[in-house]
Amino acid sequence: MIVEHEEDIAGLKAIGHICAGTLRTMMEAVQPGMTTMELDEIGREVLDKAGANSAPVSLYKFPGITCISVSPVIAHGIPSDHVLREGQLINIDVSAEMNGYFGDTGASMVVAMHVPEYEKIIAAAKSALEKAVQVARTGQTINSIGKAVQGVARRNGYGVIYDLTGHGIGRHLHEEPVQVFNHFKPRDRYVLKEGLVLAIEPFLTTGKGHVVEEADGWSLRTTDRTIAAQFEHTIIVTKDEPIILTI
Ligand code: CO
Ligand code: CO
Repeated sequence: MIVEHEEDIAGLKAIGHICAGTLRTMMEAVQPGMTTMELDEIGREVLDKAGANSAPVSLYKFPGITCISVSPVIAHGIPSDHVLREGQLINIDVSAEMNGYFGDTGASMVVAMHVPEYEKIIAAAKSALEKAVQVARTGQTINSIGKAVQGVARRNGYGVIYDLTGHGIGRHLHEEPVQVFNHFKPRDRYVLKEGLVLAIEPFLTTGKGHVVEEADGWSLRTTDRTIAAQFEHTIIVTKDEPIILTI
């Protein structure tokens, strides 16, 4: 959506803040021995208390409140009786709606342990998101986002996931522009307008950058079973630095 009124900004900030708080609470609660369903339950409590609705549930009848992906699953992982173990690379993605506004945020982390191999790709994915957010300004073409993400990935020795993208958001979870690619597409010259609401979500990987759906019909893992890390923010495009809603 394009933000038109102050109440749009207020509504988006409210749900963005709730999504961010839910993600942070879940990340802080992660510990070995708990199941991903127990972790999801913590997310449910935060969203319920805030009066927000899980977007995956209301829109897609997703069998979980949030998406919890355990490597090599990188996205859309279903909360289950999977027991988290020290040193696992996981991703938590929270998207929710309140008063007709949507927010979407995500982060990767390692369970209760230092694993340099994972921490390095996590740091690079985080820095790719920061860089991408910096270039998302009024008048820029949308492919400058992918260019920024891919640049950070390459400088750190990683590739990007080609099959997963950011997206327009606001009044719906997914709206125009439908895909915000994480790689540079020369012909993708959609111009970012003042007030455009975007979810930017770089996925970095050590592999070839393609995903396949697991037998459960939701979970996405890399085709080559390599690792990936993702960070996501929902933002409002402005002439200067964007307003980051999911903090
Ligand atoms: Co998300
Ligand atoms: Co998203």
